[in-house]
Amino acid sequence: MRVVRTIEQLREALEYMRQGGHTPIGFVPTMGYLHEGHASLLRRAGEMSSTVVMSIFVNPLQFGPNEDFSSYPRDEQRDLELAEREGADIVFIPGVEEMYPQPIRTQVSVSSLTTQLCGASRPGHFDGVTTVVSKLFNMVQPDYAFFGLKDAQQVAVLRRMVADLNMNVEIVACPIIREGDGLALSSRNVYLSAEERSQALVLSRSLREVRQAMEEGKVRTVEDARKLLVSVISASPLAVIDYAEILTFPGLETLDGASLLSDADGEIIIALAVKFGRTRLIDNNVFNPKEVATLV
Ligand code: PAF
Repeated sequence: MRVVRTIEQLREALEYMRQGGHTPIGFVPTMGYLHEGHASLLRRAGEMSSTVVMSIFVNPLQFGPNEDFSSYPRDEQRDLELAEREGADIVFIPGVEEMYPQPIRTQVSVSSLTTQLCGASRPGHFDGVTTVVSKLFNMVQPDYAFFGLKDAQQVAVLRRMVADLNMNVEIVACPIIREGDGLALSSRNVYLSAEERSQALVLSRSLREVRQAMEEGKVRTVEDARKLLVSVISASPLAVIDYAEILTFPGLETLDGASLLSDADGEIIIALAVKFGRTRLIDNNVFNPKEVATLV
């Protein structure tokens, strides 16, 4: 595994792999503090590609002024061990100076899909994501890029960016990885106190309960599903709901509250962002309501 810190070294390392015929190139962009979710992306990348590139860069552009950019957890040594174990061939770890040598005057911005859910709570966040991912795609020129569905809105936004700008890369969305008790893996889980962590289980529990209520035919409309979601989460005293929404996926369009879930055309997303103390966690479930037998 080669660790490179400059764009020039990255290009050389990639050129070497391409000349040796080690294509296709799979790319896993990350902000480090890697966990089993990232490991699963590396494994998927390894199945689909001959060269696996991972980037580790905590991107200042996607953090708001009062967010956790400076305290975002970092552990390069542990990250490199995980990357090597999971088969990365090249790990790119640029500094902020390397990525943004001068104030950035060009941004990539996807409209409409970025105004709701995390886009509403974190203004400018997705412009930061699409800009840095475009830069990384230009540097790596991967055939495939792997992203976790925990950030389902990010997947929808990046797919749209790639389609709109004819980028020559396929976005591969990979399933959410959970702890045994249901908590979706996130680098930010380390911020949780023991009590917050135990109450945070309400995210996955609320998603499961709504899904089960649909399967039992107890919930049929968008509004009823949303009410159940909110009531399950609100029973946890430390939970402060940022959003609990049911939208179309990947279009992220609002569904009329009175409409039947089964009327949705294609997949829907039940998306949550909930704060426990200073930690904001997200989780979601994407599925086609027509596959829930009792809804049709
Ligand atoms: O999902 C993330 O970790 C980040 O948003 C990404 C895609 C690496 C861009 O900084």
